[in-house]
Amino acid sequence: MDKKVVLITGCSSGIGLSLAVRLASDPNKAFKVYATMRDLTKKERLLECVKGLHQDTLEILQMDVTDRQSILKARDRVVERRVDILVCNAGVGLMGPLELQSLDSMRHILEVNLFGTIQTIQAFLSEMKAQGQGRILVTGSTGGLHGLPFNEVYCASKFAIEGVCESLAVLLQHFNIHVSLIECGPVNTNFLVNLQKAELGDPALQQVDAQTLSLYEKYLQHCSSVFQNAAQDTEDIVKVFLAAIQSTSPAFRYFTNGTTPPLTELKVTDPDGTQFIRNMSKVIFSAEEQ
Ligand SMILES: NC(=O)c1ccc[n+]([C@@H]2O[C@H](COP(=O)([O-])OP(=O)(O)OC[C@H]3O[C@@H](n4cnc5c(N)ncnc54)[C@H](OP(=O)(O)O)[C@@H]3O)[C@@H](O)[C@H]2O)c1
Repeated sequence: MDKKVVLITGCSSGIGLSLAVRLASDPNKAFKVYATMRDLTKKERLLECVKGLHQDTLEILQMDVTDRQSILKARDRVVERRVDILVCNAGVGLMGPLELQSLDSMRHILEVNLFGTIQTIQAFLSEMKAQGQGRILVTGSTGGLHGLPFNEVYCASKFAIEGVCESLAVLLQHFNIHVSLIECGPVNTNFLVNLQKAELGDPALQQVDAQTLSLYEKYLQHCSSVFQNAAQDTEDIVKVFLAAIQSTSPAFRYFTNGTTPPLTELKVTDPDGTQFIRNMSKVIFSAEEQ
């Protein structure tokens, strides 16, 4: 049987790297993986993980999702001339009081998370439609399902991705192309290190009022405790990707911890949003009330 051709963005670390390693190491050699990353000097980690054993199932390509030419160049390097499974995973975060965010940093988040994902899908869409089959998997976030203070622009980018994917999913089912969002909560990756973040002690933070600063401190404590106590490992996320890939009738949304997070659920059960805002505020800012 022909190998399924998979192209993944953002494979230098984290979820993308683990997924590339797992699929390229598939015991049935069911996949040919094109693991892409914007900076090929970072490919050693991936190569170390596969220990040179996967010449026939793994190829590493340069692709910066903000650079259309690099996306097209990577697409043209796919020797099979088709992609069966496209995984849009590359993403970056931005954290801090909104009034401190520069237009450039906000644009960058949207360029990578939103337009980068859209540009990548655009590059492969016509061929997938012509093939009459395919899978598009996107690494989503619970931050795309509900708001998180101090993450306004990141959430905006991930909310927008929900809209893009949901709209496309309705259309693409007519082409036998399944779109799935893999909705992640906190995951142990380089994400927190790589995100643009206002650090406590950063002189810029002196520009914000004392109450915002105090709430930001609480948020950072909450965030670090959530990552310490509840973050999933990339292997857990990869299992969910695999379930979506192997399903003959994939769902549109997969929650990596198995269920809809309770705060996300509130958006449905309490559509006017009052309870969500109250509960989210309690969870984040009043640790003692949890
Ligand atoms: N970790 C979490 O808690 C979490 C939770 C929910 C959702 N997610 C989502 O999961 C996805 C993967 O993140 P991760 O957790 O695995 O973090 P990560 O380890 O920081 O990985 C992010 C990947 O995206 C790549 N990337 C950034 N800008 C890019 C660009 N312009 N073009 C191509 N690649 C680019 C990074 O490459 P460089 O190494 O070159 O920067 C890296 O390979 C993201 O979409 C993120 O929003 C993560």
